[in-house]
Amino acid sequence: TTLSGVAGQPIAHSLSPLIHRAWIKTAGLNADYRAFGPADEAAFEALVAEGRSGALRGLNVTAPFKAAALAVADEVSETARLCGSANLLIFEGGRVRADSTDGEGLMAALAEQASELAVAGRPVVILGAGGAARAAAAALKGAGADVAVLNRTVERAEVLAGDLGIRVAAPEAVGEAALVVNALSAPPEIDGVSLRSDAVLMDMTYRPLLTPFLAAGRARGLTVVDGLAMLIGQARPSFRAFFDIEPPAVEVRALALAELG
Ligand code: ATR
Repeated sequence: TTLSGVAGQPIAHSLSPLIHRAWIKTAGLNADYRAFGPADEAAFEALVAEGRSGALRGLNVTAPFKAAALAVADEVSETARLCGSANLLIFEGGRVRADSTDGEGLMAALAEQASELAVAGRPVVILGAGGAARAAAAALKGAGADVAVLNRTVERAEVLAGDLGIRVAAPEAVGEAALVVNALSAPPEIDGVSLRSDAVLMDMTYRPLLTPFLAAGRARGLTVVDGLAMLIGQARPSFRAFFDIEPPAVEVRALALAELG
């Protein structure tokens, strides 16, 4: 049995096991995917050591271990280096390879739920300057967008912008953006904020699926893109990395929606 899983704290409500198990079952693989909740960074490193010794094929990594995942790796993809974090560890021959598939997940979510949006050359504003914002900024810059970040702590936005070669946004920039991505850990306030009539709003979180940010956008008639599409979008390349096959056709979004209630 090939064992993979997701590591985070807390982890009980993660939808990753549901998604990967549905793919594993449909593909008929002799494999399992578990949720691991290391209590602290030392316990996370112990889990990685088990993986390194062959007990695991790979691990998805979520908060608060994404930076630690990068630090424990022997090999780091260019994307993970740019993001400053990893959401995927692959164990092979005693070595640990780190990658970040969050950006790919974000682009897949946009393609799925805002297919009319072309970001190349267009102004995009990312709210936040943490790890999530960094992954979004790297992916959108890679797609040719004109990316700027807006953050409560300006110094953090400046560091992110400097690292990725993007701009720090003025608050008014939100009103010009073709796409606004919420990468804050707290809901942003957009009541009374002017937005383009063709703006797309995206949220990187999915609890609730329709966040206050997306609900406000929808009330204004805007196209909104949810974090569940991104979660499934980042899971796909993870599954490929675990098993060297495409995720099979199965309605994982419907399964996840049923679980979210
Ligand atoms: P993650 O890795 O998920 O991005 P993080 O690094 O803790 O998490 O980043 C959280 C983001 O949410 C930051 O941009 C943070 O702003 P600061 O850099 O100023 O701390 C933002 N954030 C969290 N709570 C906030 C609040 N109440 N108002 C505005 N921004 C908030």
